[in-house]
Amino acid sequence: TARKTVADINRFYASSKPITVVTAHDFITAKMVDHAGIDICLIGDSLANTTLGLDDTNELEFQEMLYHVKSVQRGNDSSLIVADLPFGSYEKSSEQALDTAMTIIKHGKIQGVKVEGGDEFILPTVNRLTTVGIPVMGHVGLTPQKHNALGGYRLQGNSVENAVSIYKQCLDLQRAGVFSIVLECIPNKLAQYITENLSVPTIGIGAGPFTSGQVLVISDILGMKSNKENHKPKFVRAYEDFYTKGVEALTSYGEHVENAQFPDVDEHGYKIKRDVFEEFK
Ligand code: KIV
Ligand code: NA
Repeated sequence: TARKTVADINRFYASSKPITVVTAHDFITAKMVDHAGIDICLIGDSLANTTLGLDDTNELEFQEMLYHVKSVQRGNDSSLIVADLPFGSYEKSSEQALDTAMTIIKHGKIQGVKVEGGDEFILPTVNRLTTVGIPVMGHVGLTPQKHNALGGYRLQGNSVENAVSIYKQCLDLQRAGVFSIVLECIPNKLAQYITENLSVPTIGIGAGPFTSGQVLVISDILGMKSNKENHKPKFVRAYEDFYTKGVEALTSYGEHVENAQFPDVDEHGYKIKRDVFEEFK
C-alpha cells in the first residue's frame, strides 16, 4: 500500500472516518504501527521517558530524536509519519524551527512535524513551516514540554479563561495552517466544542470520544510499563500486557538454559560434516 498523505487524512476527516494515530520509537514499533493500518505514526518526544528512561521529556536532544526518527522511518511504509520537535529545537525563532524541521524531513525522510502550543510566538513559526510546505500538527491543552510552568501533568481547560484560551489557540493554529491539532487532557465537552467549530481534524488524548481522531503512546497501548513510575493515566487503555509477557518469556528462557532444555540438539543445532568431524576427533 502507498504511504498515506495529508490529503488522505483530510479525506478521512471529510467522511467522518476517525483518524488513528499511534506513537512509535524504533524500527520494530514502527513496523507494528504500519501493519496495524494506523493512519498516522507519531514519533513523540514521550520516547524520552518511555524508551530512554529519562525523567523529563525536555532532556531529549535533537540528535537523539533524529536517530529515532530514522529508525521509525525504516520500519513503516504506509502511515503518514510525523515527528515532535524536541524542547529547545524550535522555540528561539522561526528560522531555528525551519532548520530543525528541514533537517528532520531531509535526513529522517518523514512527512511532517508537531510543535506544542498556540501562543503568539509559535504562530508565526507554524505559518513559516506550513508556507514552505511542511505539514504541521498542532498540540494544545496539556503540552508536556511546558509541564514545569503548568504545575505538572494535569487536566487543562478547567477554568473559563483557560478553556477559552485553548479554543482560541486552536483557531489561531488553524489560521496558521496546521493540518490537525492534538488536544491533550482537556474535558470531553471542550474537545467536542473545539472539534465542532474547527475545519481541521482534532486528535484527542485524554480528550474524550468526540474528536476527529485519537492518539495513544504505543508502550501504553501494549502495556510495556515503560515509565519509571509505572503510572497509567486515566485516559489510557492498555490493550495488551507486553511487560508481563516479556518477563515470563525471559524467565522461561533463563530456566531452559539453566536446566538444558534449550537449545535442542536437532531443532536449533547444526550438524558437522564427516571430514570436519574427523579433524576434531
Ligand atoms: O510525545 C507524544 O507521545 C505525544 C502524543 C501523546 C501526542 O506528543
Ligand atoms: Na510529545
